Amino acid sequence: MKRLLGKFAIVTGGSSGIGLACAKALADEGAAVLACGRRYPSGPVQTPGLGQVAYAHLDVTDEAQVKARFAELPDLDLVVCSAGTGTFAPVIHSSVADLRAMLDVHIVGSMLCAREALRRMQPRRKGHIVMIGSHAAHHAFTDCSGYTAAKAGQLGFTRVLAAEARPYDIRVTALLPGATDTPIWDDRPGFDRSKMMQPSDVASFLISIVARPGISVEEVTVTPPAGVL
Ligand SMILES: NC(=O)c1ccc[n+]([C@@H]2O[C@H](COP(=O)([O-])OP(=O)(O)OC[C@H]3O[C@@H](n4cnc5c(N)ncnc54)[C@H](OP(=O)(O)O)[C@@H]3O)[C@@H](O)[C@H]2O)c1
Repeated sequence: MKRLLGKFAIVTGGSSGIGLACAKALADEGAAVLACGRRYPSGPVQTPGLGQVAYAHLDVTDEAQVKARFAELPDLDLVVCSAGTGTFAPVIHSSVADLRAMLDVHIVGSMLCAREALRRMQPRRKGHIVMIGSHAAHHAFTDCSGYTAAKAGQLGFTRVLAAEARPYDIRVTALLPGATDTPIWDDRPGFDRSKMMQPSDVASFLISIVARPGISVEEVTVTPPAGVL
């Protein structure tokens, strides 16, 4: 039986890696899914049918784009914020521009999407917002200072979001993956990608959370069996 039949979902960062896998997994469970990314052409969205994924342009750091994209959608049941970027270097070689770019996507972008989602979900007193965070928010990985700052900030934001959404019966989940084999690792040689999770592993775990309306998982870390790589 399809567990998400009739639900409408938006996935940011839905053009690659974890977000794309989540979009496909949600559609496999019967949801109508809008998968967003900057690489898709801009313009009006084609509303997806049940069990289908439609693709649309969205830069989550652009407030006007986020507002417009969310405004043109039907009732919204689920948002998965997976948009993200990473630039990795020791602190001594880190650039301010890279740091600002990561803070912008992970914190500002997450806030903009969560805010628009909440504005639509609160009057209906239902919905679920999932932030794809990172195990890095809890672990000091070298060469990851800017990314870790961004993910820790995103997690702090998500905890307050959960507290404000709870009285409206809106669920908020910070899903913090460990190493997952996606293009975010393409510029980082030296890691054994065969030991990483697959994006589909994270997506199937996401389904196990969102398809159970009787429980709320507010923060969860999921890693490969090898743990920290
Ligand atoms: N892979 C891992 O090991 C790992 C572990 C923990 C957490 N995460 C998190 O998982 C999330 C997804 O990353 P991934 O590993 O799947 O990497 P990925 O394959 O590189 O995907 C990143 C996604 O983010 C989108 N994106 C980047 N900047 C954006 C922006 N300004 N506006 C809208 N979309 C934007 C990209 O789409 P466009 O280029 O089309 O915009 C792409 O769909 C990120 O939040 C990342 O921090 C990843």
